[in-house]
Amino acid sequence: MKSKITKICCIGAGYVGGPTMAVIAQKCPDIQVTVVDLNTERIAAWNSENTDDIPIYEPGLSTIVAEARGRNLFFSTDVELAIDEADVIFISVNTPTKTYGKGKGMAADLKYIELCAREIAKVAKDNKIVVEKSTLPVRTAEAIKSILNNTGNGVQFQILSNPEFLAEGTAVTDLLHPDRILIGGDPTPEGQTAIQALVEVYANWVAVEKIVTTNIWSSELSKLTANAFLAQRISSINAISELCEKTGANVNEVARAIGMDSRIGSKFLKASVGFGGSCFQKDILNLVYIAKSYGMNEIADYWDQVIIMNNHQKKRFADNIVQTLYNTVADKKITFLGWAFKKDTNDTRESAAIYIANDLINEQAKIAVYDPKVPRKKMLADLDYLETRSYKANAKNLDTFENPYEACENAHAVAILTEWDEFITYNWQKIYDAMQKPAFVFDGRNLLNKSELEAIGFIYQAIGS
Ligand code: UDX
Ligand code: UDX
Repeated sequence: MKSKITKICCIGAGYVGGPTMAVIAQKCPDIQVTVVDLNTERIAAWNSENTDDIPIYEPGLSTIVAEARGRNLFFSTDVELAIDEADVIFISVNTPTKTYGKGKGMAADLKYIELCAREIAKVAKDNKIVVEKSTLPVRTAEAIKSILNNTGNGVQFQILSNPEFLAEGTAVTDLLHPDRILIGGDPTPEGQTAIQALVEVYANWVAVEKIVTTNIWSSELSKLTANAFLAQRISSINAISELCEKTGANVNEVARAIGMDSRIGSKFLKASVGFGGSCFQKDILNLVYIAKSYGMNEIADYWDQVIIMNNHQKKRFADNIVQTLYNTVADKKITFLGWAFKKDTNDTRESAAIYIANDLINEQAKIAVYDPKVPRKKMLADLDYLETRSYKANAKNLDTFENPYEACENAHAVAILTEWDEFITYNWQKIYDAMQKPAFVFDGRNLLNKSELEAIGFIYQAIGS
């Protein structure tokens, strides 16, 4: 095993693999970093001449790619070559929740991970370090190890777990200034050498006291735990938001008051229409599934409640729209501002908007959407994934706009589903003038100013007040 890393390969050019490798390449000009993906379109997009056209939108990312690409950062579809040349291979492919068979709807689908392991085993002609970057159920490394050792060419593999804690929308800052880097590996001397080699890569820009090393199972489980704790905070404050609405308390005031307690802290206390994103739900379902598979039903139920609460919050938001619009939204135009699961990303996985659109289309509403970064194609694919109705029926009931003011014309209500900054700066008087009366705003993100909107004439409702 080489103790100094000179070539890195990353399988998976997605939201995690792309930004992570771009930052490693920027900070380690002596290391050659190649990102590979089966998806040729995606790789072509990463190689776009104009780095503003790269497939993932993250503030600051295109500048970093412009700096490092062609110097020591490469995007390629030649998976075999990249694996063959690399000392270290990061696996950063997606691990969606299983949609079939045992563990359907809960367990992580590891088929892509297994494919990667088999590919690495087939190609590798010298010793390699294989790093799990994707979030994986605890003890996945065991399966990867077994595949590598039983199908390989007799070379030695060291498996490390190095989960990613970046959040989308702030990926570049999170990567440049991480709270910690976590690296798990075997306690054997070879395992420790591999850990050290990866520590040295990060030490190029991260203070060593922030690089935590653990055994591999702790590392895998820490990632699931971090996401479960964060999601739990949102579900907890969301549970209080409903109580606030009934009692006259204001959830923002409650969040501020409790957040000033240093034991609690102020982050992740923003009441919302519900958390989305590729990680929280998937990781908690994973935790629940693992607990169940060990027969720990109380543990499973405890974490499952975080998801139940989140689903309730989304449903409650849609129900409230229907109820407030005089119990019928049939043929009414309802405008969504925002479709992404949070601001500053074009990612829509598990976005609350999808579920709310689905519920309202069930009530025969006409949905109009404006999102600054999400194309229509993606919105329709998201709805299609729910399998509630045909693609055609969704397309008929979901209209999309390039201009927010046009999107709001003649609408009965506007729903804020993503906290994009630009929504705050809109000319709300102009929007009001163009809408049906009474004009409603349902603010799923507590983004807008209640008194300003009410002064214009809107009927304004926010989460938790
Ligand atoms: C990541 C992590 O991997 C996941 O575990 C985490 O919980 C969420 O974020 P992400 O980068 O967001 O996934 O996924 P995605 O944007 O879908 O990227 C994965 C890429 O891997 C895709 O571009 C896909 O084409 C590629 N892929 C998948 C391969 O190259 N080979 C495969 O066998 C499977
Ligand atoms: C998350 C974790 O934060 C990150 O560390 C992990 O590696 C991947 O999963 P991400 O899904 O990109 O990151 O976004 P995050 O900022 O955590 O937001 C998740 C969801 O929670 C979003 O829908 C967001 O709008 C929502 N949210 C967040 C709230 O509703 N309230 C809050 O106070 C914070």
